Order: sequence, then structure tokens, then C-alpha cells
Amino acid sequence: MDNLLVLALKSVSKKYKYINEEIEILKKIDLEVYQGDLIAVVGPSGVGKTTLLNLMGTLDQPTGGEIYFLGKKIDYSQEDALLQIRKKIGFVFQLHHLLPEFTVLENVILPGLIANLKKEECKTKAENLLKKLGIFHRKDHKPSTLSGGERQRTAIARALFLNPVVVLADEPTGNLDPVSSEEVINAFLTLNQEFNTAVVMVTHNWELAKRMKKIFLLKNGFLVKWERGTF
Ligand SMILES: Nc1ncnc2c1ncn2[C@@H]1O[C@H](COP(=O)(O)OP(=O)(O)OP(=O)(O)O)[C@@H](O)[C@H]1O
Ligand SMILES: [Mg+2]
Repeated sequence: MDNLLVLALKSVSKKYKYINEEIEILKKIDLEVYQGDLIAVVGPSGVGKTTLLNLMGTLDQPTGGEIYFLGKKIDYSQEDALLQIRKKIGFVFQLHHLLPEFTVLENVILPGLIANLKKEECKTKAENLLKKLGIFHRKDHKPSTLSGGERQRTAIARALFLNPVVVLADEPTGNLDPVSSEEVINAFLTLNQEFNTAVVMVTHNWELAKRMKKIFLLKNGFLVKWERGTF
């Protein structure tokens, strides 16, 4: 089932106001994300990648255009509906945002506990995810004792916990060495294959982007599809 349209951006613009001027960071962007998609958005620092990802995750509102989630137009005045949408989206940030006082297992379980799921079920599910992502042996460790790649894989497991239809990742290998980056990329590829979760990754790392199936370039506010072999 690769044709379920998860996210659709239609002519989405974003302007930021400064004291006397407005700057349009994103200009009439169209983008469709289908179930099982592996998408990279590439662009240099400051071009608007995080802005775009925040819009896709409903963490911010566009100043023009519309965004549809699973076929329904996002209505920013409906807080409850926004919360329901966010439950179906997994977020992986550049800095992992793990809670330092909790173990790996507890960090992964947390979204389940917040959603009032049974603790035992949560534990089994979290353990299975940690096994899939190759960090089960670290389950009782605190984040501070993990490598950067292990932390990011823990963050990925946590983002997957509530079975999101899409995972949005912001520079997920930004601070990692090549070996850890490879582990993190493999974790994304695994979750994509095993659960058919769509992945949208924003990055300035071209090598990372090339591992995704579709690549878009963000330049001067415009999003352009990059076809392999074009340059
Ligand atoms: N809340 C805000 N108010 C005003 N300007 C903002 C705001 N957030 C971002 N910007 C500006 O919008 C532009 C794009 O920012 P954004 O964080 O999306 O870039 P980015 O591509 O993610 O960069 P990086 O690769 O460094 O993370 C920048 O010039 C930034 O200063
Ligand atoms: Mg950014």
C-alpha cells in the first residue's frame, strides 16, 4: 500500500516578520508524502529546512497555502485535532531531546505512558523496537552513557512508539561520526521497510540525502525535485 497520501503541502508559504520588513522563507511549496516514502530535503544552513519540517509537523503555521494530513485540511484553530495529528507523527530532532534521568527503555516507553497504554504492553513493544534498532543491550543505560548514534537510535525508537504514519527528522546525523551516522541511516531504512513508515529528513548532508528514495532541493524559498543523474 504505497499510495496513501499522508501529507500534502499546497502552495505553502512562510514569511517571518522583522521590525520593518517581512522575509518570505518558503515560497509556494508543493510537496506530497505518501506512505512508505523516503524523502530528503537538502539545502544549506538558513534556507528554511527546519521551518518546512515544523510546518509539516503542525508545530508552526504557514502564512499562505494549505497542508492536508491524511486527506484532511489542517485547521489550526482546532487544538484537539492538532493533538490527534501529532500523535501520528514521529519527531526526531537534531539534538535527541532524551530525558537524562530516564533509561533508554523508559525514554522509549514515555509516549505510551502519556497515551495511557498498559505498562507491560509498552515494555514489550519498546523492547522489540530496541531490538530492531540494535540497541536492546543498552536498554537500562542512561542517555549520558550512550554514544551519539545510540542516542539518536533511541530517539528514533521513541518517535516510532505510537506507530506514526510519518517520521520527520531534522539533521538526524548532524553531530555524528561516519560510523554512527551509518547506524542511524540504517535505523531509518529499517523502520521504513519494516513498518512502511514514511520518512522525511531535512539535511545539508548530500551523502545522507542520497540514501533516500526521493530528493528535493530547497533553494531561495523554492522546492525542486532532484532527479538522479541530473548533475
Ligand atoms: N521564529 C522565527 N522568526 C524569525 N525568523 C526566523 C524564525 N525561525 C527561523 N527564522 C529565519 O528563517 C530562516 C530559515 O531558518 P531555518 O531554521 O528554517 O533554517 P535551516 O535551513 O533549518 O538552517 P540550519 O541548516 O542552520 O538548521 C533563517 O534565516 C532564520 O533566521
Ligand atoms: Mg535547521
